[in-house]
Amino acid sequence: QERLNHFQDEFWVPKEKLNHIIEYFISELNRGLHDGTDPLGIPMNAAWVMDYPTGNEKGDYLALDLGGTNMRVVVVHLLGNHKFTTEQSKFKLPSTIRTTKNREDLFGFIAESLGKFLKEKNPNGIPEGKVFPLGFTFSYPCTQTRVDVGVLQRWTKGFDIPGVEGEDVVALLKKDIKKRNLPIKIVSLINDTCGTLVASRYTDPLTEMGCIFGTGVNGAYYEKVSNISKIDGTLEDDILPSSKMLINCEYGSFDNIHKVLPRNTYDKEIDEESPRPGQQTFEKMTSGYYLGELIRKSMLECYNGGVLFKHLAKNSEGAKNLNKAYLLDTSFLSALESDETQDLSETDSQFKETLAVQTTLEERLFAKKLASFIGTRAARLSTCGISAACKKMNYKHCHIAADGSVFMRYPHFPERAAQALSDVWGWDGMKMEDHPIQIVRAQDGSGVGAAIIAALSDIRISKGL
Ligand code: BG6
Ligand code: GLC
Repeated sequence: QERLNHFQDEFWVPKEKLNHIIEYFISELNRGLHDGTDPLGIPMNAAWVMDYPTGNEKGDYLALDLGGTNMRVVVVHLLGNHKFTTEQSKFKLPSTIRTTKNREDLFGFIAESLGKFLKEKNPNGIPEGKVFPLGFTFSYPCTQTRVDVGVLQRWTKGFDIPGVEGEDVVALLKKDIKKRNLPIKIVSLINDTCGTLVASRYTDPLTEMGCIFGTGVNGAYYEKVSNISKIDGTLEDDILPSSKMLINCEYGSFDNIHKVLPRNTYDKEIDEESPRPGQQTFEKMTSGYYLGELIRKSMLECYNGGVLFKHLAKNSEGAKNLNKAYLLDTSFLSALESDETQDLSETDSQFKETLAVQTTLEERLFAKKLASFIGTRAARLSTCGISAACKKMNYKHCHIAADGSVFMRYPHFPERAAQALSDVWGWDGMKMEDHPIQIVRAQDGSGVGAAIIAALSDIRISKGL
């Protein structure tokens, strides 16, 4: 019990701390709008999407969605009147691709998948002269000077492929598309948060932010152009200072100077052992890529201290597994947290199958609690980005469109996130469905968003803007 109390303290973020974090978060969002190049700050990447969708955009677009865990190719039929239909194929990213030494492995795989998809959708061949406009959702931080260009600032979420950082990923993909003679024209590059926001806004005008709670953590919103001082002087004449531009915050990098986030020893170790120490501090405490590692490290410390798995021999397979970095992923915590059986038999199988560790009921109860501390901290902290953006923009009544495996599949995550918002905004006693700011599910939206942005870009191109 003493050890459990210790973990509860390590991972609990009280309301006062949330408020403190949010205050600093707002100043960092503003700082990024002025200068997003400081690697210790939040990039606040301009997305060069100047329009809100009206819901009346029409046409057929291809969308390519390279997310955290999957890649999807989608044909989106925008029907106007806030309606659309999609046809999509999912492609599992080969496990070695995240860290391949050859960038052509990634872009070749993407182009190959696009080719397969087109073939499947056009069994009688593609009509002569037909070109498919494509919106590319690339969920990594990019500097954009136009909507169809994006220079990768740095890899995140465990990707580490040489020769891509500092390069325009649109140009890299174009090369592989050309090599295969595919009739595809890339018209826009967007982040998944931007896609999620735009797709939700197409059907729900109350949407003000798009957020991902998945392998990574991030958010997007529309900012007044006059507030984005770093793009002063680069704007075309037709853009009024009162116009709004979509911003991909990339707030996973919040607090890289470690000023306010309550980092504990496990957070510090995860950062130091990562391929990019000192980067993505906020993401490393909240996103799905790291939650499994947080519980593994916590349990390993208990094992080494003789508190957990007392009968597990030091040279056993179980002990070796406990020492394997990133062996556990977020689905392990999800399984523990959703186990409602009396003897925690689901948890028992998880321990046996993933770790080869035999557990007592007491140990399983301990691990389940530990998972809930880690999951609750992730949910509470990750809403700080939402509160900061809403406070900054004075949004008091709106929808936040959310996607990502953690939001969609981690038990109690939406409720815990709503509770954190309620703590900060003072909605005590109000039912979750009555909260003025609601985080709503927006599954698989970013492909659709890419298509809508492709349509908006097409309209601007055809107007000569
Ligand atoms: C998917 C979106 O549903 O969620 C992607 O289509 C996004 O664009 C992804 O990147 C994020 O979730 P995860 O869990 O795969 O990182
Ligand atoms: C990482 C990426 C960001 C993306 C987020 C969610 O933070 O850097 O671009 O939006 O993950 O997928």
